[in-house]
Amino acid sequence: MSERETWATRAGFILAAVGSAVGLGNIWQFPFKTAQFGGATFLVVYLVAAFGIGLPAILAEFVIGRKSNLNTIGAFEKLGYRNWRFVGVLGLVTGFWILSYYSVVGGWVLRYVGGSLTGAYFGDSAAYFSSIAAGPDAIALHAVFMALVVGIVAFGIEDGIEKATKFMVPSILVILVALAAWAFTLPGSGPGYGYFLSPDLSQLRLTVATTDGFPFVSFGGPLAEIIPFAVSQAFFSLSLGMGAMITYASYIDGDESLFGDGATIVVFNSLIGILAGLVVIPLLFAQGVEPGSGGAGALFISVAGAFASIPFGRVVGVVFFGVVLVAALSSAISLLEVVVAYAIDNYAVSRPQVAVGLGAVIFLLGLPSAWDTAWLTWFDNLAYQLFLPLSVLGILVFVGWVFGRPALEELLRGTSFGHGVGATWLWTVRSVVFLAVVVTLVLGLVTLFGGQDPAIVPPL
Ligand code: TRP
Repeated sequence: MSERETWATRAGFILAAVGSAVGLGNIWQFPFKTAQFGGATFLVVYLVAAFGIGLPAILAEFVIGRKSNLNTIGAFEKLGYRNWRFVGVLGLVTGFWILSYYSVVGGWVLRYVGGSLTGAYFGDSAAYFSSIAAGPDAIALHAVFMALVVGIVAFGIEDGIEKATKFMVPSILVILVALAAWAFTLPGSGPGYGYFLSPDLSQLRLTVATTDGFPFVSFGGPLAEIIPFAVSQAFFSLSLGMGAMITYASYIDGDESLFGDGATIVVFNSLIGILAGLVVIPLLFAQGVEPGSGGAGALFISVAGAFASIPFGRVVGVVFFGVVLVAALSSAISLLEVVVAYAIDNYAVSRPQVAVGLGAVIFLLGLPSAWDTAWLTWFDNLAYQLFLPLSVLGILVFVGWVFGRPALEELLRGTSFGHGVGATWLWTVRSVVFLAVVVTLVLGLVTLFGGQDPAIVPPL
């Protein structure tokens, strides 16, 4: 095995991790899920989930990665817990699963960059979406997107991922700010801000009810629906639950405050989600689109529709979809890197070989999603309601109960924090965070296998 690669700089690591976190999850899924689940109320629950659950969980992944300096599966073995390798395997499976349909949506975005240039969707944006979202066109673009991802990963950590994300992440931020400012000037966008930013706190209540004489606490209003989605959304958007953060942290060379890195990443990630919301939700209102009315497709349709109706729409369209593309690419890179890292660490294969081989397999797995959006919805739901929470749960149980004390010491390495801070984190991982993920998993499974609530599982 050759010398293992590392990040050239600490900023390089943070940017790559932010690049992994910020993606379609923030710019596409977050605004449309927020719109679907009642606007600001979802935003509040999401932010609580991101900081209260996502941050402790991201630190747990960092600890495993930095301590072991190995890929997600090898890491467990090296730390002395061979039997826990299944958590790593679960992560790899989750990564394969997610990237397969992520790349299909990435293909749509590619298509929209081109479509903005030529004005292809300017006539009838809904008809345009349905003509490109599924079938041979979608398959072709899924292939192109996957090829781009493979190309970057083939170049490796420092030359490929670090260089690419150093440029990508700052440009996403700048352009989103500019677009949000532009959305602010649109006539009719006003009510969008109220919808997005002022929560209806009455929806966030706890009630005590009784069934057959047994008291139980239930969440009032739509909170029971919102929680599992907000928590899974936080995991998805922070790239948790498939070893991406374990793998990235395994390339850290030296002592630095994992707390600081983790907090920076969560802040940036939330910020970019909110910025995307500030672009997209006012656009929906300016278009007169009922915010909760549609799923993923509606977002493409109405944002594109807004561009069609304004001066310089082509330029704005290219810029907007260009940014989404960059964000999607930098996330997809991390999804592939996890599997590539495992293969390189274990087998006598070169990085480019593995990148191409695995890219091809993931392309095949994505074919159903590219063929019919019903499959894409199914893949996405299974990821949200089963794979992500299950896999994060595995990591939390391992770090909280099995690994325990050494995890705490690893977390504190390179910080000036006292033992108490680490102990608080460990306690949180064992209690609040653990419980929240169990609740998410159970509620998710109920939705998945129980009576399907159409409000929770929308068609794309
Ligand atoms: N976080 C990315 C996004 O928001 C997607 C992503 C990348 C991801 N790597 C991941 C999601 C690992 C789950 C697990 O678009």
